[in-house]
Amino acid sequence: MAGRLLIVSNRLPVTVAERDGGVVVVRSSGGLATGLRAPHERSGGLWLGWPGDLTSLSSEASSLVEERLGELGAIPVQLGRSEQQVFYDNISNSVLWPICHDRLDHLPLRVTGWDVYETVNARFADLVVEHYEPGDTIWVHDYQLFRLPALLRERLPDARIGFFLHVPFPNPEIFFTLPVRRRLVEGMLGADLIGFHTARYRGHFAATLRRLFRIERDADWAIDWRGRRVSIGVFPMGVDAAGIAERASAPAVSAEQLAVSTGNPRLLLGIDRLDYSKGIPRRLLAFEQLIRSRAEWREKLRLIQVAVPSRGTTRAYGKFRREVDALVGRINGDLGTPSWTPVQYLYASVPDHTLLALYRAADVMLVTPVRDGMNLVAKEFVASRVDEDGVLVLSEFAGAAEELRDAVLVNPYDVDSVADCIHEALVMPDPERRRRMRALRAQVMEHDVHAWAEGFLGALAAV
Ligand code: UDP
Ligand code: G6P
Repeated sequence: MAGRLLIVSNRLPVTVAERDGGVVVVRSSGGLATGLRAPHERSGGLWLGWPGDLTSLSSEASSLVEERLGELGAIPVQLGRSEQQVFYDNISNSVLWPICHDRLDHLPLRVTGWDVYETVNARFADLVVEHYEPGDTIWVHDYQLFRLPALLRERLPDARIGFFLHVPFPNPEIFFTLPVRRRLVEGMLGADLIGFHTARYRGHFAATLRRLFRIERDADWAIDWRGRRVSIGVFPMGVDAAGIAERASAPAVSAEQLAVSTGNPRLLLGIDRLDYSKGIPRRLLAFEQLIRSRAEWREKLRLIQVAVPSRGTTRAYGKFRREVDALVGRINGDLGTPSWTPVQYLYASVPDHTLLALYRAADVMLVTPVRDGMNLVAKEFVASRVDEDGVLVLSEFAGAAEELRDAVLVNPYDVDSVADCIHEALVMPDPERRRRMRALRAQVMEHDVHAWAEGFLGALAAV
């Protein structure tokens, strides 16, 4: 690639937060931020996005933050309080997120604020145009910025622009509930290449194009759009597998892993942003059902569930948190004994070494979202298992299930059967466990995040 790579996403890889009267810059959570970090570092380009709420910072603190971000190649997009509320909470998190995850039941009765969604996308466009140099490649990410490719195309007609969607593109029956469906798709079509994680999401998008514009894609999965060619590709995102395997082998991680496992019963693990798409309540019920139906697991099994705080300013997330708190409390109250807490629940973001130690300590990793674009936690777990042991129980509704066929695939809505599958995973004979993990590792190591970025950017260069 001749010019620089400009990554554009709503969330920067680091978030600025106020703590104890001072300002800290912390790692952002979520798959987009963790996943793109390694390709960004490798490319040495720029990453433009929102660093979190800076509105109450003094001007000295703001310039310190900008300096720190500059060292990381990050350019902040500043959003005012009410923009954050309307663009981020009300539209992105409360309308676009549920629609992409098939959750029409989560939609507010009345939606306003599409004008602010447009204005904020235009603000991103201003900043990209300000930093763009001829020859650069612009790579826009995710549903918060559906309008951005077209806004950029108007101002940089010759630029090379890619768009990647990290969440599912829903079935058109669901997508068509959006009053602005046409404008959002027109926004995406400003790109030269539009990428999805799976063939299913791409199929939904092609069906949407047919219904909206009566356009058929050709044999190469491209369309002619207002005098340009737009390609539509499938690029399943991976993780920095070699880097994870190396960090997971560090002596400090092994020591922490031992501390988690020593003297304790067998371990089930769940790691998710606290989001209703992740299937946490049904997973807890499946765990409860397993303990109730098979007495041999009483006091012999525990579930560590890490729920990473997420979108605390969006109403549905606060409500969801209270539901999960109550369910964990109820299960521990009903089943626990003085010497056994069945569910160890952490509402926290965990440091990298602890995350890796937990992955390595788990007998069974539970990844059971009711809908997930890809799910990188599943792939990180596999990459960290340098011992070629451990079982992955994976929802068939995660994009990752299309590739990770050697996981134990489950339907998360069928709670009783998930309970049975967890049992099968725990008693799986040694040779089968290892055979499956070896096959999963081969897949995850080969199709890593670098191959993914090269695949997308190579296809974009060829358009
Ligand atoms: N993760 C995190 N903080 C934590 C624990 C995990 O940022 O305390 C990361 C995890 O390593 C993974 C990402 O969050 O890279 C979750 O990505 P995934 O694709 O599974 O789901 P998403 O949160 O993007 O919906
Ligand atoms: C998912 C989305 C990302 C988002 C992340 C964290 O991975 O696809 O776009 O950044 O969740 O959510 P947040 O709202 O904190 O950025």
